[in-house]
Amino acid sequence: MVVQARSLHKRYGEVVAVESLDFEVARGRCYGFVGPNGAGKTTTMKMIYCIVRPTSGSLKVFSMDVIESPRQIKARLGVVPQENNLDPDLTTWQNLMVYARYFGMPREAARRRGRDLLDFMHLGDRAGTPVPSLSGGMKRRLILARALINDPELIILDEPTTGLDPQVRHLIWDRLLELKERGITLLITTHYMDEAQKLCDEIVIMDQSRRVDEGSPEELIRKHVPPFVLELRADRALAGEILGRFPEVSHQESGQNLYIYGGSPSDFDQMLAAWPQADHIIRPASLEDVFLKLTGREIRL
Ligand SMILES: Nc1ncnc2c1ncn2[C@@H]1O[C@H](COP(=O)(O)OP(=O)(O)O)[C@@H](O)[C@H]1O
Ligand SMILES: [Mg+2]
Repeated sequence: MVVQARSLHKRYGEVVAVESLDFEVARGRCYGFVGPNGAGKTTTMKMIYCIVRPTSGSLKVFSMDVIESPRQIKARLGVVPQENNLDPDLTTWQNLMVYARYFGMPREAARRRGRDLLDFMHLGDRAGTPVPSLSGGMKRRLILARALINDPELIILDEPTTGLDPQVRHLIWDRLLELKERGITLLITTHYMDEAQKLCDEIVIMDQSRRVDEGSPEELIRKHVPPFVLELRADRALAGEILGRFPEVSHQESGQNLYIYGGSPSDFDQMLAAWPQADHIIRPASLEDVFLKLTGREIRL
Protein backbone atom coordinates (compact mmCIF):
# COMPACT_ATOMS: atom_id res chain seq x y z
CA MET A 1 0.00 0.00 0.00
CA VAL A 2 1.23 3.48 -0.85
CA VAL A 3 -0.89 5.13 1.85
CA GLN A 4 -2.50 3.48 4.84
CA ALA A 5 -4.60 5.37 7.42
CA ARG A 6 -6.04 3.82 10.57
CA SER A 7 -8.37 5.73 12.91
CA LEU A 8 -6.80 8.95 11.70
CA HIS A 9 -7.81 12.02 13.73
CA LYS A 10 -6.91 15.68 13.51
CA ARG A 11 -8.12 18.33 15.88
CA TYR A 12 -7.34 22.05 15.66
CA GLY A 13 -8.16 23.21 19.20
CA GLU A 14 -11.88 22.62 19.52
CA VAL A 15 -12.39 21.93 15.83
CA VAL A 16 -12.38 18.30 14.73
CA ALA A 17 -11.13 18.42 11.14
CA VAL A 18 -10.71 14.68 10.53
CA GLU A 19 -12.33 11.94 12.55
CA SER A 20 -11.76 8.16 12.58
CA LEU A 21 -10.64 7.99 9.00
CA ASP A 22 -9.56 4.60 7.60
CA PHE A 23 -8.41 4.11 4.03
CA GLU A 24 -5.78 2.42 1.91
CA VAL A 25 -4.39 3.52 -1.41
CA ALA A 26 -2.84 0.88 -3.66
CA ARG A 27 0.03 1.59 -6.05
CA GLY A 28 -0.89 2.97 -9.46
CA ARG A 29 -4.44 3.89 -8.53
CA CYS A 30 -6.19 7.24 -8.55
CA TYR A 31 -7.90 7.79 -5.25
CA GLY A 32 -10.31 10.68 -4.79
CA PHE A 33 -11.60 12.56 -1.76
CA VAL A 34 -14.78 14.48 -2.47
CA GLY A 35 -16.83 16.54 -0.08
CA PRO A 36 -18.11 20.03 0.61
CA ASN A 37 -15.92 22.81 2.00
CA GLY A 38 -14.81 22.03 5.52
CA ALA A 39 -15.18 18.26 5.12
CA GLY A 40 -11.54 17.67 6.08
CA LYS A 41 -10.06 16.90 2.66
CA THR A 42 -7.18 19.37 2.76
CA THR A 43 -6.30 18.41 6.33
CA THR A 44 -6.13 14.76 5.25
CA MET A 45 -3.87 15.64 2.30
CA LYS A 46 -1.62 17.78 4.52
CA MET A 47 -1.18 14.93 6.96
CA ILE A 48 -0.17 12.67 4.07
CA TYR A 49 2.38 15.15 2.75
CA CYS A 50 3.70 15.61 6.26
CA ILE A 51 3.05 19.28 7.02
CA VAL A 52 0.20 18.67 9.47
CA ARG A 53 0.71 16.23 12.30
CA PRO A 54 -2.09 13.77 13.08
CA THR A 55 -3.60 14.16 16.55
CA SER A 56 -4.01 10.40 16.85
CA GLY A 57 -4.28 7.22 14.82
CA SER A 58 -1.75 5.88 12.40
CA LEU A 59 -0.78 7.15 8.97
CA LYS A 60 1.80 5.44 6.81
CA VAL A 61 3.08 6.56 3.42
CA PHE A 62 5.35 4.13 1.53
CA SER A 63 5.07 2.00 4.68
CA MET A 64 6.77 4.74 6.73
CA ASP A 65 5.17 6.62 9.58
CA VAL A 66 4.47 10.29 8.80
CA ILE A 67 5.68 11.42 12.22
CA GLU A 68 8.87 9.35 12.21
CA SER A 69 9.99 9.72 8.59
CA PRO A 70 8.66 12.94 7.02
CA ARG A 71 11.85 13.70 5.06
CA GLN A 72 12.06 10.29 3.43
CA ILE A 73 8.37 10.44 2.54
CA LYS A 74 8.51 13.97 1.12
CA ALA A 75 11.43 13.04 -1.13
CA ARG A 76 9.22 10.52 -2.94
CA LEU A 77 6.02 12.52 -3.41
CA GLY A 78 4.84 15.54 -5.37
CA VAL A 79 2.29 18.07 -4.14
CA VAL A 80 -0.17 20.39 -5.84
CA PRO A 81 -1.52 22.33 -2.84
CA GLN A 82 -4.99 23.86 -2.77
CA GLU A 83 -3.57 27.41 -2.73
CA ASN A 84 -1.08 28.48 -5.40
CA ASN A 85 2.24 28.89 -3.63
CA LEU A 86 4.61 29.82 -6.46
CA ASP A 87 7.30 32.39 -5.71
CA PRO A 88 5.97 35.60 -7.32
CA ASP A 89 9.44 37.16 -7.49
CA LEU A 90 10.70 34.42 -9.79
CA THR A 91 10.04 33.27 -13.34
CA THR A 92 8.43 30.00 -14.38
CA TRP A 93 11.85 28.43 -14.94
CA GLN A 94 13.32 29.71 -11.67
CA ASN A 95 10.37 28.29 -9.73
CA LEU A 96 11.14 24.85 -11.13
CA MET A 97 14.87 25.11 -10.50
CA VAL A 98 14.40 26.20 -6.87
CA TYR A 99 12.50 22.97 -6.28
CA ALA A 100 15.09 20.90 -8.11
CA ARG A 101 17.76 22.33 -5.81
CA TYR A 102 15.58 21.63 -2.79
CA PHE A 103 15.57 17.97 -3.83
CA GLY A 104 19.34 18.08 -4.39
CA MET A 105 19.19 17.31 -8.11
CA PRO A 106 22.39 17.75 -10.14
CA ARG A 107 22.24 20.90 -12.27
CA GLU A 108 22.25 19.31 -15.72
CA ALA A 109 19.67 16.66 -14.80
CA ALA A 110 17.46 19.39 -13.30
CA ARG A 111 17.64 21.47 -16.47
CA ARG A 112 16.83 18.52 -18.68
CA ARG A 113 13.92 17.50 -16.52
CA GLY A 114 12.69 21.09 -16.20
CA ARG A 115 12.57 21.49 -19.97
CA ASP A 116 10.73 18.19 -20.41
CA LEU A 117 8.20 19.10 -17.74
CA LEU A 118 7.48 22.53 -19.20
CA ASP A 119 6.85 20.87 -22.56
CA PHE A 120 4.71 18.21 -20.92
CA MET A 121 2.52 20.92 -19.36
CA HIS A 122 2.48 23.09 -22.52
CA LEU A 123 4.52 25.83 -20.88
CA GLY A 124 7.62 25.52 -23.08
CA ASP A 125 7.32 29.12 -24.31
CA ARG A 126 6.74 30.53 -20.81
CA ALA A 127 10.03 29.69 -19.15
CA GLY A 128 11.07 33.33 -18.78
CA THR A 129 7.67 34.67 -17.74
CA PRO A 130 7.43 36.12 -14.22
CA VAL A 131 4.79 34.32 -12.14
CA PRO A 132 2.46 37.35 -11.80
CA SER A 133 2.13 37.45 -15.60
CA LEU A 134 0.92 33.85 -15.86
CA SER A 135 -2.81 33.12 -16.17
CA GLY A 136 -4.57 31.04 -13.51
CA GLY A 137 -4.42 27.97 -15.73
CA MET A 138 -0.70 28.45 -16.42
CA LYS A 139 0.05 28.79 -12.71
CA ARG A 140 -1.79 25.57 -11.99
CA ARG A 141 0.10 23.78 -14.77
CA LEU A 142 3.39 25.13 -13.45
CA ILE A 143 2.57 23.85 -9.98
CA LEU A 144 1.89 20.43 -11.48
CA ALA A 145 5.19 20.56 -13.41
CA ARG A 146 6.93 21.53 -10.17
CA ALA A 147 5.27 18.63 -8.35
CA LEU A 148 6.87 16.27 -10.88
CA ILE A 149 10.43 17.59 -10.68
CA ASN A 150 11.61 14.87 -8.26
CA ASP A 151 10.02 12.06 -10.31
CA PRO A 152 7.55 11.23 -7.52
CA GLU A 153 5.87 7.86 -7.00
CA LEU A 154 2.83 9.54 -5.45
CA ILE A 155 1.24 12.85 -6.42
CA ILE A 156 -1.16 14.64 -4.11
CA LEU A 157 -3.49 17.08 -5.85
CA ASP A 158 -5.71 19.32 -3.73
CA GLU A 159 -8.41 20.72 -6.03
CA PRO A 160 -6.11 20.83 -9.06
CA THR A 161 -8.66 22.37 -11.44
CA THR A 162 -10.90 24.55 -9.28
CA GLY A 163 -11.79 27.75 -11.11
CA LEU A 164 -10.07 26.79 -14.38
CA ASP A 165 -11.61 26.91 -17.83
CA PRO A 166 -12.65 23.69 -19.58
CA GLN A 167 -9.62 23.52 -21.93
CA VAL A 168 -7.14 23.69 -19.07
CA ARG A 169 -9.12 21.19 -17.05
CA HIS A 170 -9.03 18.74 -19.95
CA LEU A 171 -5.29 19.24 -20.44
CA ILE A 172 -4.67 18.58 -16.75
CA TRP A 173 -6.92 15.50 -16.79
CA ASP A 174 -5.07 14.10 -19.83
CA ARG A 175 -1.74 14.62 -18.12
CA LEU A 176 -2.91 13.00 -14.89
CA LEU A 177 -4.25 9.97 -16.77
CA GLU A 178 -0.91 9.71 -18.56
CA LEU A 179 0.94 9.77 -15.24
CA LYS A 180 -1.37 7.09 -13.91
CA GLU A 181 -0.62 4.92 -16.93
CA ARG A 182 3.04 5.18 -16.02
CA GLY A 183 2.20 3.59 -12.66
CA ILE A 184 2.24 6.76 -10.54
CA THR A 185 -0.26 6.80 -7.69
CA LEU A 186 -2.60 9.80 -7.57
CA LEU A 187 -4.48 11.22 -4.61
CA ILE A 188 -6.88 13.97 -5.53
CA THR A 189 -9.48 16.13 -3.82
CA THR A 190 -12.15 17.81 -5.85
CA HIS A 191 -15.47 19.59 -5.75
CA TYR A 192 -16.24 18.41 -9.23
CA MET A 193 -18.07 15.14 -9.63
CA ASP A 194 -17.23 14.94 -13.34
CA GLU A 195 -13.55 15.19 -12.43
CA ALA A 196 -13.86 12.47 -9.79
CA GLN A 197 -15.78 10.22 -12.15
CA LYS A 198 -13.27 10.72 -14.96
CA LEU A 199 -10.07 10.23 -12.98
CA CYS A 200 -10.72 8.12 -9.91
CA ASP A 201 -10.70 4.36 -9.46
CA GLU A 202 -11.86 4.77 -5.90
CA ILE A 203 -13.67 7.61 -4.15
CA VAL A 204 -14.12 8.52 -0.50
CA ILE A 205 -17.05 10.80 0.13
CA MET A 206 -16.34 12.98 3.17
CA ASP A 207 -18.66 15.27 5.07
CA GLN A 208 -18.08 17.05 8.37
CA SER A 209 -14.74 15.37 9.09
CA ARG A 210 -15.99 11.83 8.49
CA ARG A 211 -16.05 9.28 5.75
CA VAL A 212 -19.62 8.84 4.52
CA ASP A 213 -18.94 6.06 2.02
CA GLU A 214 -16.31 4.71 -0.30
CA GLY A 215 -16.18 2.79 -3.56
CA SER A 216 -15.59 3.04 -7.29
CA PRO A 217 -17.77 5.66 -9.01
CA GLU A 218 -19.86 2.89 -10.58
CA GLU A 219 -20.26 1.06 -7.26
CA LEU A 220 -21.35 4.20 -5.45
CA ILE A 221 -23.90 5.03 -8.11
CA ARG A 222 -25.28 1.48 -8.22
CA LYS A 223 -25.49 1.31 -4.44
CA HIS A 224 -27.18 4.63 -3.75
CA VAL A 225 -29.38 5.69 -6.67
CA PRO A 226 -31.54 4.11 -9.38
CA PRO A 227 -29.94 4.19 -12.84
CA PHE A 228 -32.01 6.93 -14.53
CA VAL A 229 -32.87 10.47 -13.58
CA LEU A 230 -35.56 12.78 -14.83
CA GLU A 231 -34.21 16.22 -14.09
CA LEU A 232 -36.94 18.85 -14.03
CA ARG A 233 -36.66 22.56 -13.64
CA ALA A 234 -39.36 23.07 -11.05
CA ASP A 235 -40.13 25.82 -8.55
CA ARG A 236 -41.65 24.86 -5.21
CA ALA A 237 -45.20 25.02 -6.50
CA LEU A 238 -44.56 22.76 -9.47
CA ALA A 239 -42.47 20.33 -7.40
CA GLY A 240 -45.31 20.18 -4.85
CA GLU A 241 -47.82 19.48 -7.58
CA ILE A 242 -45.75 16.68 -9.14
CA LEU A 243 -44.93 15.02 -5.83
CA GLY A 244 -48.57 15.37 -4.73
CA ARG A 245 -49.68 13.42 -7.77
CA PHE A 246 -46.82 10.85 -7.62
CA PRO A 247 -46.14 10.57 -3.88
CA GLU A 248 -44.31 7.24 -4.12
CA VAL A 249 -41.61 8.38 -6.47
CA SER A 250 -37.95 8.36 -5.40
CA HIS A 251 -36.70 11.95 -5.64
CA GLN A 252 -34.37 14.69 -4.45
CA GLU A 253 -34.65 18.45 -4.63
CA SER A 254 -31.77 20.78 -5.26
CA GLY A 255 -32.42 24.47 -5.69
CA GLN A 256 -34.80 24.86 -8.61
CA ASN A 257 -34.23 21.29 -9.75
CA LEU A 258 -36.33 18.26 -8.98
CA TYR A 259 -34.64 14.92 -9.62
CA ILE A 260 -36.92 11.92 -10.06
CA TYR A 261 -35.27 8.49 -10.10
CA GLY A 262 -36.33 5.45 -12.09
CA GLY A 263 -35.25 2.03 -13.32
CA SER A 264 -35.65 2.98 -16.98
CA PRO A 265 -36.48 6.11 -18.99
CA SER A 266 -40.01 4.81 -19.62
CA ASP A 267 -40.71 5.12 -15.89
CA PHE A 268 -41.06 8.85 -16.51
CA ASP A 269 -43.62 8.61 -19.34
CA GLN A 270 -46.70 9.19 -17.20
CA MET A 271 -45.19 12.17 -15.46
CA LEU A 272 -44.04 13.81 -18.68
CA ALA A 273 -47.48 13.23 -20.21
CA ALA A 274 -49.06 15.05 -17.27
CA TRP A 275 -46.63 18.01 -17.45
CA PRO A 276 -45.72 18.20 -21.12
CA GLN A 277 -44.41 21.77 -20.84
CA ALA A 278 -41.94 21.03 -18.06
CA ASP A 279 -38.32 21.90 -18.87
CA HIS A 280 -36.51 18.59 -18.41
CA ILE A 281 -33.81 16.13 -19.38
CA ILE A 282 -33.46 12.39 -18.80
CA ARG A 283 -29.93 11.26 -17.97
CA PRO A 284 -28.08 8.35 -16.37
CA ALA A 285 -27.57 8.72 -12.62
CA SER A 286 -24.20 10.26 -11.70
CA LEU A 287 -21.96 10.80 -8.70
CA GLU A 288 -23.66 14.17 -8.29
CA ASP A 289 -26.86 12.30 -7.35
CA VAL A 290 -24.97 10.10 -4.90
CA PHE A 291 -23.36 13.11 -3.31
CA LEU A 292 -26.66 14.92 -2.96
CA LYS A 293 -28.21 11.89 -1.35
CA LEU A 294 -25.39 11.22 1.10
CA THR A 295 -24.68 14.78 2.20
CA GLY A 296 -28.01 16.46 1.55
CA ARG A 297 -26.51 19.17 -0.62
CA GLU A 298 -24.97 19.87 -3.94
CA ILE A 299 -21.24 19.51 -4.21
CA ARG A 300 -20.47 22.96 -5.64
CA LEU A 301 -20.59 25.37 -2.76
N1 LIG B 1 -5.06 25.54 10.47
C1 LIG B 1 -6.31 25.38 10.91
N2 LIG B 1 -6.68 25.87 12.13
C2 LIG B 1 -7.93 25.70 12.59
N3 LIG B 1 -8.92 25.06 11.93
C3 LIG B 1 -8.62 24.57 10.72
C4 LIG B 1 -7.31 24.70 10.14
N4 LIG B 1 -7.32 24.10 8.93
C5 LIG B 1 -8.56 23.63 8.75
N5 LIG B 1 -9.34 23.90 9.82
C6 LIG B 1 -10.75 23.49 9.99
O1 LIG B 1 -10.82 22.09 9.80
C7 LIG B 1 -11.99 21.75 9.08
C8 LIG B 1 -11.61 20.98 7.81
O2 LIG B 1 -10.95 21.88 6.92
P1 LIG B 1 -10.27 21.40 5.56
O3 LIG B 1 -9.44 20.22 5.83
O4 LIG B 1 -9.61 22.59 4.96
O5 LIG B 1 -11.55 20.97 4.70
P2 LIG B 1 -11.77 20.88 3.12
O6 LIG B 1 -10.44 20.84 2.46
O7 LIG B 1 -12.56 19.64 2.94
O8 LIG B 1 -12.55 22.10 2.73
C9 LIG B 1 -12.74 23.03 8.83
O9 LIG B 1 -13.70 23.19 9.85
C10 LIG B 1 -11.66 24.08 8.92
O10 LIG B 1 -12.19 25.32 9.32
MG1 LIG C 1 -9.66 22.01 0.95
